[in-house]
Amino acid sequence: MSEPLHRTPTGSPTGTSLPAEHPLTTSDPARSTAASPLITAFRGGTPSRTPVWFMRQAGRSLPEYRKVREGIGMLESCLQPELASEITLQPVRRHDVDAAIFFSDIVVPLRLAGVDVDIVPGTGPVLGSAVRTAADVAALPELTDESLEPIREAVRLTVAELGSTPLIGFAGAPFTVAAYMVEGGPSRDHLGPRTMMHADPETWDALATWAADAAGRFLRAQLEAGASAGQLFDSWAGSLSLADYERFVQPHSARALAHVSDLVGGDGQPVPLVHFGTGTSEILPAMRDAGASVMGVDYRLPLGEAHRRLGATPGPDGRGAVPLQGNIDPALLNAPWEVLAAHVREVVQAGRAAPGHVVNLGHGVPPATDPEVLTRVVELIHSLRP
Ligand code: CP3
Repeated sequence: MSEPLHRTPTGSPTGTSLPAEHPLTTSDPARSTAASPLITAFRGGTPSRTPVWFMRQAGRSLPEYRKVREGIGMLESCLQPELASEITLQPVRRHDVDAAIFFSDIVVPLRLAGVDVDIVPGTGPVLGSAVRTAADVAALPELTDESLEPIREAVRLTVAELGSTPLIGFAGAPFTVAAYMVEGGPSRDHLGPRTMMHADPETWDALATWAADAAGRFLRAQLEAGASAGQLFDSWAGSLSLADYERFVQPHSARALAHVSDLVGGDGQPVPLVHFGTGTSEILPAMRDAGASVMGVDYRLPLGEAHRRLGATPGPDGRGAVPLQGNIDPALLNAPWEVLAAHVREVVQAGRAAPGHVVNLGHGVPPATDPEVLTRVVELIHSLRP
């Protein structure tokens, strides 16, 4: 690796080069992802075909997933490198999507750090005890680099099979992860973390800093081991007012992204970083200003309007419009084909306004989705001009 150089969050041409054999760096055309449709669109270029992948493309919608997961807990399967890799590859083989998303979970770094957490089927992440006081936060164990070895191993196995299809790594953003930690489990309104921000801002700050560093290390491990892009999931950020987002959340998301913003591919271009949440129509420009290069948009806001809002509200670094990812309404996957196809065409058309567009859903694949429908959606998108 070359000498790490300091890079401002807005992106100067210096950075930390990924290893020579990394898919973004290698000159081997069979393994290079640098000119793939996904990376090209993420970087604002014109791809050879319109790229598409689906959040939660690996998972319960696939019979082959249900089969390999039989009798194995969710977090346990994330920590078995061969199994995590196999599950990551399943939707790529089946659907011909333009990216794999690493099979893991936003609470995997907690488990690796030694926090008592599990994923309860049908419920979501549940902690042995909630994290609510300054003492609770001070007692959190650090996520060490060594503990991330099963993650790096799963990424290496996956990338060896993917060839020129990029792997996307990810992490949960500090607010979404801290929301589970403060509540001790899933909640609808995230009252616990939203109270803590105002009632005990110092404890909130310490907790969100811990979560930001855990997320940053988790994401960096995936990128260094071979992932070609990263996505920060702040799924629940839409429950916040703009003022609360800017004051209590954005700096921590920026801290998480700063762990990886120095990484560059062989051409010196930064690794693409996507930032996604749901219900984020009012905070989209503020989320962009946390530093990612691509914005994920949920199904509530048409892409043309997302593009307009970002362009009309440039950040302190001068960036306005950025490439977009999204935003097929998952509800329409269950509609008659002609209704779904018309919606997909509309999303692709709207995305042409942005400097780059990667098609995705506006949130994850619902478990009851017919996988044949997803394959057909991919075929339709690939038939449309980028
Ligand atoms: O294709 C992919 O996106 C796969 C990788 C992935 C998973 N979780 C696998 C998973 C990713 C990127 C996540 C992120 C994640 N996990 C988020 C952010 C994205 C989002 O959905 O908003 C959140 C909020 C979580 C927390 C979490 N993990 C929930 C709410 C659940 C659902 C619990 C349930 O059973 O309904 C999980 C479990 C989980 N994570 C599953 C998968 C495939 C389902 C577990 C199973 O199949 O048994």
